[in-house]
Amino acid sequence: MQKSFNQFIEFVKGIYPEYPDIIPLHDPRFIGNEEKYLLDCLKSNFVSSVGEYVGKFEKLCAEYTGSNYAVASVNGTAALHISLLLAGVKPGDEILTQPVTFIATANAISYTGALPTFIDVDMDTMGLSPGKLRDFLSSNTFKGKDNFTYNKKTKRRIFACLPMHSFGFPCKIDEILKICNEHNLVLIEDAAESLGSLYHEKHTGLYGKFSTLSFNGNKIITTGGGGMILTSDEYLAKKAKHLTTQAKVPHPWEYSHDEIGYNYRLINLSAALGCAQIEQLEHFVHEKRILSANYKTFFQQTDIQYFEEPANSRSNYWLNAVILKDRKERDDFLKFTNEHGVMTRPIWELLNKLPMFNTCDCSDLTNANWLADRVVNIPSSVPITDYYKNKNK
Ligand SMILES: Cc1ncc(COP(=O)(O)O)c(C=O)c1O
Repeated sequence: MQKSFNQFIEFVKGIYPEYPDIIPLHDPRFIGNEEKYLLDCLKSNFVSSVGEYVGKFEKLCAEYTGSNYAVASVNGTAALHISLLLAGVKPGDEILTQPVTFIATANAISYTGALPTFIDVDMDTMGLSPGKLRDFLSSNTFKGKDNFTYNKKTKRRIFACLPMHSFGFPCKIDEILKICNEHNLVLIEDAAESLGSLYHEKHTGLYGKFSTLSFNGNKIITTGGGGMILTSDEYLAKKAKHLTTQAKVPHPWEYSHDEIGYNYRLINLSAALGCAQIEQLEHFVHEKRILSANYKTFFQQTDIQYFEEPANSRSNYWLNAVILKDRKERDDFLKFTNEHGVMTRPIWELLNKLPMFNTCDCSDLTNANWLADRVVNIPSSVPITDYYKNKNK
């Protein structure tokens, strides 16, 4: 095993020779029109909540994903919060989500006064399992007179389902949607990590009533901080814009607000960065898929298993992942790589184990527990190839 660990360090250093000390997990790349568009904001004086880049970025996101509407927000967590509110989530509701996700997914649920209920993930996607979802719904819920689904144990209404495409690998979102329709559940997709990923050739984020993206600094493209709500519904898109902009009634000079809104706007500077980044997105995905193919070939010669994209999908390979033999080997790998200048990390502590959520209901979580003991993310930044070197000259 030690031999594989050493070979891995050498292999990663060969991919990222530009980092003398520590090779990060995911660094952004600013090699397009970023400076030009940012300077444009400064020169125009529109750096804050007003300016033409916000609308432009929304349009580019809608066009890229194929969504009818895209509404920008200050970050992905805010996008989730607004989506849940507009979906109609009420305090005391339960939202079915996965324990293998970043804390923001469950936090956003909590902001609405609802509670997460954790459903296991599939081994081949690391995203919410339609099989486990169906099992949970058929054994643990009943249909109320109001046609909503209720949890037999807690008696709470189960209102929505919020799966996440882990590390950019699409979950079986079409099956999940079918089950949601059968049980009168609203589907909201947390697509924070999967911009550029396709499922059955359709962009992730197009299956839910809402879906959300994140442009945090570690994502495939970044605006520094930012998020986006995707929806096919014009009315809901307008409501999302209204709620994220303090619910101000549009008027040239009067200030009036017709409900409690949120200061969740994306600023023009961030949107300008986003416009430059999204122009390079297909190229980033292309480069990341070459990296993935190289990782696959490398790991075939070792005793470490490389996690490949699931069937029927094109992953953006936001974060590459490997599966170690057991928790001990995982910890040995984490220690060795981090001590030798290669940043790696385990998947998040399962959300059902955190103090805020450890009393929430959950399905059998065999797969999530198995994966949590073994999965490690490895460096996945877009490699600086000759393409970029020449561009920078
Ligand atoms: C799965 C998931 N959901 C939500 C978020 C929240 O996004 P943000 O950091 O932009 O608030 C992130 C990333 O940060 C994420 O990875």
